[in-house]
Amino acid sequence: MSNTQIQIFDTTLRDGEQVPGCKLNTAQKIIIAKQLDLLGVDIIEAGFPVSSPGDFKSVEEISKIVTNASVCGLTRSVENDIKVAAEALKYARKPRIHTGIGTSDSHIIHKFKSNKDAIIERAVRAVSYAKSFVEDVEFYAEDAGRTDNEYLAKVCEAVIKAGATVLNIPDTTGYCLPQEYGAKIKYLKENVKGIDKAIISCHCHNDLGLATANSIEGIVNGARQIECTINGIGERAGNTALEEVVMILKQHPYLNLDTNINTTMLYGISQLVSDSMGIYTQPNKAIVGANAFAHSSGIHQDGVIKNRETYEIIDPKDVGVTESAIVLTARSGRAALAYRAKNIGVELTKLELDIVYAEFLKFADTKKEVLDTDIHQIIETSKIYK
Ligand code: KIV
Ligand code: ZN
Repeated sequence: MSNTQIQIFDTTLRDGEQVPGCKLNTAQKIIIAKQLDLLGVDIIEAGFPVSSPGDFKSVEEISKIVTNASVCGLTRSVENDIKVAAEALKYARKPRIHTGIGTSDSHIIHKFKSNKDAIIERAVRAVSYAKSFVEDVEFYAEDAGRTDNEYLAKVCEAVIKAGATVLNIPDTTGYCLPQEYGAKIKYLKENVKGIDKAIISCHCHNDLGLATANSIEGIVNGARQIECTINGIGERAGNTALEEVVMILKQHPYLNLDTNINTTMLYGISQLVSDSMGIYTQPNKAIVGANAFAHSSGIHQDGVIKNRETYEIIDPKDVGVTESAIVLTARSGRAALAYRAKNIGVELTKLELDIVYAEFLKFADTKKEVLDTDIHQIIETSKIYK
């Protein structure tokens, strides 16, 4: 893997699916996993096999059909979890076990009622045991965002020695600021012996709306894998949105960081996940929301009609959206009305446009959006006899 290549680890089917209301059956998961594989993600986290027979079955079936990506199963640092995950992954061409434990004081004291040395011992035991089944073992230091860097570095060093190939540094509670998360990754790069033997992974939650910014700051500081979900679904306020990090890297080529993602599939897979889960995507969602390429104010519409790039930094075709939309509302101007009228076959002269526009504004004030059928009616009411 080149040093400019960012691995995309998709956890839609694990961190995304574990959310109330997002439950999928095995058949639905297989359809999504196939699309994720075609999309070009490098790793598909297919589930948490020990959590239920249904999840076990899904991981097993997904392992059979994925042809390019690695297939990953989540575990706690518990022997039985790891054994069951290895069993569920036995048909995978490229299996990965994802094991880990909480490392923040809060997790060590309240969750495990343990101490720092004992946690390192458990972490090492889990990684060594996972290594007895598969070569590719990812370790997560849960709540790394609130773990002090010196202790986190000790944990990382110990699990690398035990054979971890990937170090996941989750901001589990979505607490970190971007510069803080970036500095954490930099600290690990500079202070963990053997760090070059492992890939550092960003796994950020969106409790303060910073998941995407934190992930980007993580890779700028040396991480080479991002864990993310389609539409940013996931625990509480969600995970880093796959479509956002991928498009940030594409739109900022000077960062010299790339992914394997076929971006023209992004809109379609967003719809597939949203429809399968019955989870509606907010209209203003970056990249895949219904309004992401829609222009409604007169000033913006005039600009976009003259040249799309005046108000769009992404060509909608690059993410699988057919074209930008000029939406007619009471804030729209003459240029937008003329454009939409022309689209339905009516060319208005300047004088005609002035008359129809006055009628349009009266009508638009009574409606949220003016549709093509309304335009015909407005032209008729204007008595210009087109
Ligand atoms: O947010 C988190 O810490 C996780 C781990 C289980 C990887 O999802
Ligand atoms: Zn998570």
